[in-house]
Amino acid sequence: MMNVVMLSPGFPAEMPWFALGLAEVGAHVIGIGEQPEAMLPEATRRALDVYVQVGSLWDEAAMTEQLRMIGRRVRIDRIECLWEPGVMLAASLRERFELPGMSVEQATLFRDKEAMKRRLDDAGIRTPRHAVATDGGEIRAAAEQIGFPLIVKPVAGAGSADTHRVDDAKALERVIPRVRHVAQLSVEEYVEGEEFTFDTICAGGDVLYHNVAWYRPKPLLARTIEWSSPQTVSLRDPDRADLAPGVRMGHEVLRALGFDTGFTHMEWFLTPDGEAVFGEIAARPPGARSVDLMNYACDFDSFTGWAEAVCHGRMSAPWSRRYNAAVIFKRAKGSGRIARIEGLERLVARYRRNIVCVDLLPVGAPRRDWKMSLISDGFLIVRHPDFTATLDMADRIGTDLRLFAS
Ligand SMILES: Nc1ncnc2c1ncn2[C@@H]1O[C@H](COP(=O)(O)OP(=O)(O)OP(=O)(O)O)[C@@H](O)[C@H]1O
Ligand SMILES: [Mg+2]
Repeated sequence: MMNVVMLSPGFPAEMPWFALGLAEVGAHVIGIGEQPEAMLPEATRRALDVYVQVGSLWDEAAMTEQLRMIGRRVRIDRIECLWEPGVMLAASLRERFELPGMSVEQATLFRDKEAMKRRLDDAGIRTPRHAVATDGGEIRAAAEQIGFPLIVKPVAGAGSADTHRVDDAKALERVIPRVRHVAQLSVEEYVEGEEFTFDTICAGGDVLYHNVAWYRPKPLLARTIEWSSPQTVSLRDPDRADLAPGVRMGHEVLRALGFDTGFTHMEWFLTPDGEAVFGEIAARPPGARSVDLMNYACDFDSFTGWAEAVCHGRMSAPWSRRYNAAVIFKRAKGSGRIARIEGLERLVARYRRNIVCVDLLPVGAPRRDWKMSLISDGFLIVRHPDFTATLDMADRIGTDLRLFAS
């Protein structure tokens, strides 16, 4: 029996299913998190053998003590965390208890966007021209060297927060005061083109499963334009010829960073010339229902697939790429509470066989902050074997499904 400690098993939304995956492959699952046990999602409670509530996951001394106490009762075999802020913590605790899995040095390459790109540059991988900056002077110097248009973003960013496209020196002066609160910034060449992901489940350095998803539009635009209905489309054919440079790069990146076992989520650009340019990579699954998309596209359970890869070094359940799967995020017009939803019945009647999930805020619920979460006021998921048909449906849901708040 393998004893796996999972940090934050109840949050974010996908974690309960990963916890269940671990239980499914026979692991004894020990959850540590900040939520009171009674507040854990039902699936998490089903998955866990033991739950330890802590005041703060980020108090490393207290966490170490907790793990010591657990270690007196059971042998801890692995520590896992699939939530971005906890990836470094899990690595640090692993080192302390001499457990297998990603070290702090390796995890840093997945978290620090400058260290990441330097390592990839050394491996000959095409990254955007980049420099690190800590104040206005350094940002200006970096801009001088990189040229416009450029991107200014946090070295340890998430969710496109504090990320700015800057087109000229005048705009740069407007951005500098707005990023003053960010200690370490990355300044990058702005890369034109479409944005894709390359996501994997690996074991022992081998890629057991890969997924390519297309962001429509690019995440930075999705976060800037409120009236849009952003989509993520998991592709039935990730081995399409035009995507080959990105998939090849994905494998090279994993090798260059020495990734061994677990989930990875890389973002990359496909330029109008057909060149792949690296964006970023994280040692965790993508969020915003992208794992569900993989499951809908391949008719499998990648939560359990990940758990099996982590615990047993393989993924034995059969799967095949049968569909393109798209999630469409909706934002209500107006502010306050959801007042009405228009167009849903007609869309459901029309695409009955293809809509696999409807998860919209109900009438009366307060709107979510669309800048804080791509999920926004809810989403639909559709799937179809044909790529164009998938995009048509997704676009139709983008325009014809309307939420209003007041
Ligand atoms: N060099 C670049 N050229 C063009 N666009 C960029 C560049 N860097 C970032 N972006 C845009 O900004 C978005 C956010 O940047 P990035 O993915 O590096 O940060 P993040 O905040 O960690 O992302 P996430 O939203 O995935 O958590 C990207 O998805 C992309 O749309
Ligand atoms: Mg990103």
